[in-house]
Amino acid sequence: MDLENRLTHTGYTPEDRETENPLRPRAFSEYIGQEKVKENLKIYIGAALSRKESLDHVLLYGPPGLGKTTLAGIVANEMGVNLRVTSGPAIEKPGDLAALLTNLSPGDVLFIDEVHRLSRQVEEILYPAMEDFALDIITGKGQMAASYHLPLPHFTLVGATTRAGQLSAPLRDRFGVVLRLELYNPQELGKIVTRSAKILGADIEADAALEIASRSRGTPRIANRLLKRVRDFAEVMSGGVITLNTAKIALDRMEIDELGLDQSDRRMLSAIIQFYGGGPVGLETLAAAIGEEAVTIEDVNEPYLMQIGFLSRTPRGRCATAAAYLHLGLPVPAALQPAAAPPEQTRLPE
Ligand code: ADE
Repeated sequence: MDLENRLTHTGYTPEDRETENPLRPRAFSEYIGQEKVKENLKIYIGAALSRKESLDHVLLYGPPGLGKTTLAGIVANEMGVNLRVTSGPAIEKPGDLAALLTNLSPGDVLFIDEVHRLSRQVEEILYPAMEDFALDIITGKGQMAASYHLPLPHFTLVGATTRAGQLSAPLRDRFGVVLRLELYNPQELGKIVTRSAKILGADIEADAALEIASRSRGTPRIANRLLKRVRDFAEVMSGGVITLNTAKIALDRMEIDELGLDQSDRRMLSAIIQFYGGGPVGLETLAAAIGEEAVTIEDVNEPYLMQIGFLSRTPRGRCATAAAYLHLGLPVPAALQPAAAPPEQTRLPE
């Protein structure tokens, strides 16, 4: 399915990308969830501030839509410095990175999203920049070749990636702080939905917020997007008040089920079960069967399906679990049934 048209997809929309997005928390005090990450970052920031140093480079990893860009913004705010936002694919040539780096002020945060997608030549420039705060540039060829060593201000690189394993080892080793973001639980997402509704001026009942939260597959970006669409239904159906009933009707109409699975998730599970006997099936085969990109399956569908215990990843491929069969209303094969309890031992008469 076209990723842009998928309601639960976690990619950015132009709306999200706006730095002015009013739903983005600006300080740790507004940021809900990711408690361990927040606590650690607060300590590192406090220590850097007290030493009057820039913060060490930070790598944030985890599924898309969990707030990596937001956290980078908060780090910059709490450090009292500027935030510059870019992404791996946007930095095409070493010169693009050099231009970004030479325009930074001391202490600034440079956020590079999808940092695993930097080209090798760009990475080579980044190593001395991260380690020694210097650009080593070679211009010209042969006799005309000249090398320059250009000092840079001490900056903080905040890199984000969906999987730390995709990063080259030399790049990964240059991050002093490596933090993993986790999917949010429904209670945390409920608080995020309530906070967002308040900012948007939408009237929402507590159980409706929890309903949206529990169908948002652990992801604030999805929760906020669903909230906006449910609000549209509420305006037409219930005088603007988002009630539990309106939320349920709206989410059902959007074909997002009680567990937050959308058509793509259900198609993926059905394909594993109906075409491949429940698995194991290889990622590429599965991607071709349902017309989805393998990376989308890995980054978007799988983290949540594994979290709720519907999918297992084995060395031989992906397998649907008994819970997935039950959710789709399909009979659970005998091999996935729990082993029958051994017959109770009969007590011999004394
Ligand atoms: N909006 C998006 N992510 C959020 C978070 N973690 N806390 C509060 N609001 C958010």
